[in-house]
Amino acid sequence: MKPQRVERITQIIEILSDGQFHSGEKLGAQLDVSRTAISQYIKDVQALGIDVFRVTGKGYKFANELKLLHLNVISDFLNSNQENAQDIHLERVVGSTNDFIKHAITHNIDSGYAVFSEAQTAGRGRRGKRWVSPFGSNLYMSMYWRLEDGMGAAMGLSLALGTVIAELLSELGVYDVEVKWPNDVIVNGKKLAGILIELEGQALGVAHVIIGIGVNIKMPSWLADQIDQPWTDLSTLLNNNFDRNHIAAMLLAKCRQALRVYEQEGLKPFISRWQRFDRLAMKPVRIIMGDKELHGIAEGIDESGALLVKRDGKLERFHAGEVSLRYGA
Ligand code: BTN
Repeated sequence: MKPQRVERITQIIEILSDGQFHSGEKLGAQLDVSRTAISQYIKDVQALGIDVFRVTGKGYKFANELKLLHLNVISDFLNSNQENAQDIHLERVVGSTNDFIKHAITHNIDSGYAVFSEAQTAGRGRRGKRWVSPFGSNLYMSMYWRLEDGMGAAMGLSLALGTVIAELLSELGVYDVEVKWPNDVIVNGKKLAGILIELEGQALGVAHVIIGIGVNIKMPSWLADQIDQPWTDLSTLLNNNFDRNHIAAMLLAKCRQALRVYEQEGLKPFISRWQRFDRLAMKPVRIIMGDKELHGIAEGIDESGALLVKRDGKLERFHAGEVSLRYGA
């Protein structure tokens, strides 16, 4: 989409985010475009996942008030918690925040450089799945980290991050948060957050790590059938009682802290913290490797991030990416 179009659409969203009626005529005057152009932009706004309707004589209105992200609120929150508020970007619409970071890497950015976007038009999950990313309702964040020890050192990263996300959600008051190896954060069996780690660089050199995190905050119910797995969101779990900007700031701060520990000590300090949330612990699992299926009992993770499975009295290790996992005997 052309930058000017994105600019106009975001202007309209900012005006309508107060949840009040705004006439097409006034919107046109504010943006210096015709009413017909406004009705086209409104279609784009709807395509971004926002429920907007029109009442003759009154104008356009969002079905729900939108609480937008604001960089100054995020930075103030970080500053007042003695956290670095530098290197944070806020976009209104991007394809994927992971791609935003991939592009930024070509400009020599520092570890911890991060971007949030209000919407993604091509958000992606693991295994090539789409990550439904409507405007203003959830969190989509990506962060860059440089790992001197190379790609091998990144193996346990998603488990460390899954652990800190689960800790954050639990601190916010969510009961029964669980992590499911290798990197799902779930509540009552439904997905609440996902992590997508992508690596750039040579196999033997420095690894440039792109960490993408999506947290469902308030998924519009009319998008529910576009999501192909059970899901939940924070507004359901916490009764709307939170501030999205603060959660964004805390998420960023916790991930940066975790990455600083991880680059020094690896996954080891996170193993016992992971256990607190481990959904699979001591449960029967089935490991699918190509056309082979192995059965065993999950017994946690090791320092490389491998899943430990007890089979016939022996502990075996399985690595994410090589196997897929099913519950039950
Ligand atoms: C998963 O499949 O569980 C991983 C989902 C990761 C989604 C996030 S949202 C921010 C970042 N940008 C993307 O395109 N994907 C990740």
